[in-house]
Amino acid sequence: MDLNYIDEGKILKIFTYPSPILKKIATNVEVFDDELKELCRNMLTTMYDAPGIGLAAPQVGISKRIFVMDVEFDRKEVTAADGQTKYEIVDRKPLIFINPVIKNKEGQFKYEEGCLSLPGIYDEVTRAKKITLEYQDLEGNKKEIEAEDLFAVCIQHENDHLDGVVFIERLSMLKKNFFHKKLVKRKKMYSDSP
Ligand code: NI
Repeated sequence: MDLNYIDEGKILKIFTYPSPILKKIATNVEVFDDELKELCRNMLTTMYDAPGIGLAAPQVGISKRIFVMDVEFDRKEVTAADGQTKYEIVDRKPLIFINPVIKNKEGQFKYEEGCLSLPGIYDEVTRAKKITLEYQDLEGNKKEIEAEDLFAVCIQHENDHLDGVVFIERLSMLKKNFFHKKLVKRKKMYSDSP
């Protein structure tokens, strides 16, 4: 995909926990049209802007089985004309997965995860180390890839969003309840303020 094309996308609103949309099971994409391309482009723009390494459609309020990802980009410090330090996203490798299905899981890998829908929450989750993923591209072509380590973790995390699961639900009941209370309290605080 053309990188300039991504920059032209819109920044979408990211829904945060405990929004009901994050609990819904997303439905398959049936139509591979321009509207789908536009959505994927906007999702990538939103992901890089955040910045995050993955974003699933339910996180932007669309209950469809789509996620976008880039586990390789870097942030470069640049000095703007006004002398201020800014960050520029470089070495992008945007990926789009439509109707993904995890076929094979092997081994275990522990990684400290975060999520754009659970700001400020980070914890270690154990997932499969190696996976095989079947998916469709923007044209509807069937594809398959193998992923390992961080790439595999990210796919499993994003795929969970399509099934209405956020990563704190993969933690112990104690931790899950702790983070749940913290996020609900914070959400209340924000919505009470003018
Ligand atoms: Ni997430």
